[in-house]
Amino acid sequence: MTERTFSIIKPDATRRNLTGAINAVIEGAGLRIVGQRRVKLTEAQAKKFYEVHAERPFYGELVSQMIAEPVVVQVLEGDNAVAKYREVMGATNPNDAAEGTIRKLFALSIGENSVHGSDSLDNAKIEIEQFFTDADIVG
Ligand code: PPS
Repeated sequence: MTERTFSIIKPDATRRNLTGAINAVIEGAGLRIVGQRRVKLTEAQAKKFYEVHAERPFYGELVSQMIAEPVVVQVLEGDNAVAKYREVMGATNPNDAAEGTIRKLFALSIGENSVHGSDSLDNAKIEIEQFFTDADIVG
């Protein structure tokens, strides 16, 4: 089934000029980048985006990392895009990530792990709507 998922290329990756390299992995896996924008998140945006983790000990650090430098927000489209992108990203902790995944290739640590991807179709819709209007997405 064709789905859309939401992706963020995180500051650790934009800082190291890895946007193109990460997009090559995404496109190589058969996902289409149908929306994309480079933005500097505000603290309010990052706090809202990660509010589900507000009680976790790393929340403050996660928010600080996400606002430190620009990110690239994306909408990815393809067959089973949500699950496929989770597979392409690899495990949250790069030490556990499979060979060839974005996090195995590029991530620095569990916090600076280069990319975010939605964990369900419902959350993908919610996350896409935080950053894109329908007019911004061209399939
Ligand atoms: S997941 O994806 O929900 O299974 O992973 P989880 O371990 O719950 O982590 C959720 C997000 O928090 C980030 N994270 C951290 N950031 C900074 N410091 C530490 N120690 C840390 N641990 C986890 C992790 O990268 C996940 O970010 P996203 O953007 O959702 O992938």
